[in-house]
Amino acid sequence: MDGNNAIFYQLQTKGPGSALQQSIALFWFSGLILGSFLTPATLASEKLFLENCATCHQKDGQGIPKVYPSLVTSEVVRGSGVDVAYVLLIGRGEMPSFKGALSSADMASIINYVRATLAHADGEITAARIDALQ
Ligand code: HEC
Repeated sequence: MDGNNAIFYQLQTKGPGSALQQSIALFWFSGLILGSFLTPATLASEKLFLENCATCHQKDGQGIPKVYPSLVTSEVVRGSGVDVAYVLLIGRGEMPSFKGALSSADMASIINYVRATLAHADGEITAARIDALQ
């Protein structure tokens, strides 16, 4: 029995329980509901980022000072999805081009993850837009 089930078991067998137990159960339950909406797409794009970008830019996108630029504070990332797509298609300095290595759909997924989740920038890019740049 894991922690979540334990809380539920306790609620079911011993009645409503304390206010704390109730809030823990509610917190867990809302996480479950939110998670079922948000997790799948986020997980796929995060996985793509971790596999293709994190070796250099690090898991949190903060990079390594003077070696790999931070994507969190990058003006390019904050600017637009198209700007980032050009960096991925053309490559830059030591960074290889991902043209041919990643599909437009995977590039769009990574770019949207980096912009929304790491740099808190608005606006999504589509795979069709990236196709049109090639
Ligand atoms: C082999 C290491 C490496 C990998 C892998 C890599 N990058 Fe980079 N990236 C760099 C380096 C180095 C630069 C800086 C290049 C320069 O300006 O000379 C850079 C620059 C960038 C920039 C421009 C940042 C700015 O503000 O100028 C973006 C955006 C970027 N990378 C995104 C990505 C994404 C997204 C991925 C994964 C698909 C990725 N990179 C994979 C090394 C890497």
